[in-house]
Amino acid sequence: MSNLHIIENPLIKRDLTYLRDKNTKEYQFRLALKRISFILAAEIGKELSVTETTVETPLETTTGYKIAQQIVLIPVLRAGLSMVSAFIEMIPQAKVGHIGMERDEETLKARTYYFKTPKNLDQSKVIVLDPMLATGGSATAVFNFLKENGANDCVFACLIAAPEGIAKLAAEHPEIPVYTAVKDRQLNERGYILPGLGDAGDRTFGTL
Ligand code: PRP
Ligand code: URA
Repeated sequence: MSNLHIIENPLIKRDLTYLRDKNTKEYQFRLALKRISFILAAEIGKELSVTETTVETPLETTTGYKIAQQIVLIPVLRAGLSMVSAFIEMIPQAKVGHIGMERDEETLKARTYYFKTPKNLDQSKVIVLDPMLATGGSATAVFNFLKENGANDCVFACLIAAPEGIAKLAAEHPEIPVYTAVKDRQLNERGYILPGLGDAGDRTFGTL
């Protein structure tokens, strides 16, 4: 699928190993997740448009560039919160919206419980942040919701994507680019990604 970008980087491979390791402490887990998020932000940065400006160096006037669009980061609560700080350091002018999305662990259906975003989503580049793309139910629901609220230029950033979630998102939102640090093998019968890292929210926030 041409809209799937799997980011190849040795630093990602090393940090995914920390994330997968069940013995990794929460603070190390958060740091590894943040480091990968920096790399994802740099890759997604290639999607942004710029306008030309001028800048005075100490020696002369030259061409500079400004990001042309309003950028809106949308972390999917809870686990997506862990990606925000890296993205906002890379794109400091970004605004931040939040979507609360919870997967029912019996039915695996996603339920929206919170939604607050900046205005003018229709004129923004919207970058959705969620470390895990498993069945794709949550991500699909997020993009349904964002489109209903005017968004028309969206990107999805995750750390681990399962083939099932990639296929669902491609079927329902084929125009949305998906950036991931890795594509894993499959889901288990409970909808967890294999080999995966377990529950990203619980491992980030220590609620296991
Ligand atoms: C996790 C993850 C995604 C979702 C992925 O969130 O952060 O949002 O599951 O699964 P899906 O692709 O099958 O929908 P979860 O519902 O566990 O909530 P949490 O972040 O609050 O732990
Ligand atoms: N959500 C997670 O946090 N982990 C998975 O493996 C699947 C969904």
